[in-house]
Amino acid sequence: MLFAHNWEVAVLCGIVGMIADSVKTQDVVEALKKLEYRGYDSSGIAFVENGRLRVFKSVGKIERLEKTLGDELRKEIKVGIAHTRWATHGAPNDINAHPHTDCTGNIAVVHNGIIENFRELRSYLISLGHKFKSETDTEVIAHLIEEMYDGDLLQAVLKAVSKLDGAYAIGVVHSEHPDEIVAARKGSPLVIGIAKGIGIIASDVTPLLKYTKEVIFLEDGDVALIKKGRVKVFDSSGKEIERKVHTIDWDESAAEKGGYKHFMIKEIMEEPQTLVNAMMGRIKAGDILFPELASIDFSKARRINVVACGTSYHAALFFKYFVEFHTDLDVLVEVSSEFRYRKPHIDKDTITLAISQSGETADTLESIRLAKRLGSRIISITNVVGSTITRESDLSIMMNSGPEIGVAATKTYVAQLAILALMGLKIVKDRGFWSERHSKIADTMLRLPELFSTILSEKDHILEIAKKYESYSHFMYIGRGYGYPTALEGALKLKEISYIHAEGYPAGELKHGPIALLDEKFPVFAILPSDSLYQKMKSNVMECKARNAKIVAVATSGNVEIKELADEIIYVPRVPEDIYPLVMAPVIQLFAYYVADLKGLDPDKPRNLAKSVTVE
Ligand code: M6R
Repeated sequence: MLFAHNWEVAVLCGIVGMIADSVKTQDVVEALKKLEYRGYDSSGIAFVENGRLRVFKSVGKIERLEKTLGDELRKEIKVGIAHTRWATHGAPNDINAHPHTDCTGNIAVVHNGIIENFRELRSYLISLGHKFKSETDTEVIAHLIEEMYDGDLLQAVLKAVSKLDGAYAIGVVHSEHPDEIVAARKGSPLVIGIAKGIGIIASDVTPLLKYTKEVIFLEDGDVALIKKGRVKVFDSSGKEIERKVHTIDWDESAAEKGGYKHFMIKEIMEEPQTLVNAMMGRIKAGDILFPELASIDFSKARRINVVACGTSYHAALFFKYFVEFHTDLDVLVEVSSEFRYRKPHIDKDTITLAISQSGETADTLESIRLAKRLGSRIISITNVVGSTITRESDLSIMMNSGPEIGVAATKTYVAQLAILALMGLKIVKDRGFWSERHSKIADTMLRLPELFSTILSEKDHILEIAKKYESYSHFMYIGRGYGYPTALEGALKLKEISYIHAEGYPAGELKHGPIALLDEKFPVFAILPSDSLYQKMKSNVMECKARNAKIVAVATSGNVEIKELADEIIYVPRVPEDIYPLVMAPVIQLFAYYVADLKGLDPDKPRNLAKSVTVE
């Protein structure tokens, strides 16, 4: 197991399965629609009709699948599984959409998660004669089950999942077993509804609520046999086990948000899983793995040019600090809207890195087009497979965060920082600068999901602080070194969702002008970890204090002396100083979220802003 805990793979795709004496295809599709917020680049359904497996798929939103199904929607079926996808392996298209089938066309599988060892399994299965149709990791599961099947679907699934590394929640149907669905889970969520006369499974409780409030949450390693109105759960050895039945009291809207008030807070709370998804398979046996970048030789690169906007730009600044601190490589960072109209000095020895959550930001897209014309190779980091930026890049790295619905970037910022830190470590290694310090950073990266859970468990403390500060009209965020990008991001988060005027400044710049703003009505949010610039930062905070500004400090746990200086303190765990921006991220996000919510604003839909900025 890569990570110390059994973290779930956060929202990446949604699956449902239904079994009854008779349901309509439309019922399965309606259930699937309740999961569309989990992914919407393509969808599909498989059902058994007269002993034959039938599969329909469509790229785009579920309404496109409905059009493809046409009259089939009214069909009475006994068993069906369906999937709405957020691509991780293979572009969003009809072939890569789920369900995936085996060579015989009798077995169909829907899957949420990431199979880490799919390349090895695929080669092995091909050597046995299996023919693959898609580029997905999921298809190996269908062929593995085919390989293990000798008339008993449950046993075949038990054997197949024992070969999988990574994360999965799966639903499986077989044309010879129209009276059962087999489901399995490891690391990705899967819930089974307990209802009379109907069996239903889904990635979360939302589709189940129409049928029942009684549910079983499968646990890692569980394999379940679902028949109409009857559920049996087995452990990985095939021994039948009991699982607690929970009663859900959420309505559908709350269920979609995992019981949270807004998507933004749900997405912040998902960050431990976001980190797992972003880093999965990248730190192994002391090495840093980026198979996507096999053709890039960082040891020969002359410089890296990074283009990005907004939050992604702040992640880019972190990368610059990291790489320049640890290696001899120059990293240029510029907001895309400036870069695209300048005459940048880049050429074929410059690697251009585009960072964009959406993969559609117009200015970033134009910037990579310019960089390409100048001879630069383009690497992109995005969260959307098949987005325009990935299509126009030479190489792409996926963040695997699942859809982010809140307009403010939160979990995707964390994914960007994690990937950039690992990419930074890879550059350190490739250029021969690796030392004990870097092993320590890599080790701590593996512990980040756990550290994030600890930070997030302090959210009520941050809420209490937000209550004291929500009525202020201004905020100054300050930081030094690695704390500076965090200060910029903290100010952006606060202003975009709470409409409070917030400035992000390098603390050392205060005395060159902005300190004139400070007084008792202009509080300061100080990024103050116990790092090599701590004493300098402390002096800056003292200067602010001397102007009667209230101080909210984010400090390293164990720092007692700061109590004398700060009005409020939020502690984060001690980590190597190069990755403090990661552990600071949930703090600045939670503070902004609570302030906006307390002001009665909708943080998911801030005024004047769009999730994808596809215009200049
Ligand atoms: O999709 P991108 O990462 O390219 O988006 C860049 C910015 O538009 C985005 O980060 C924006 O600043 C967000 N509202 C930040 O929360």
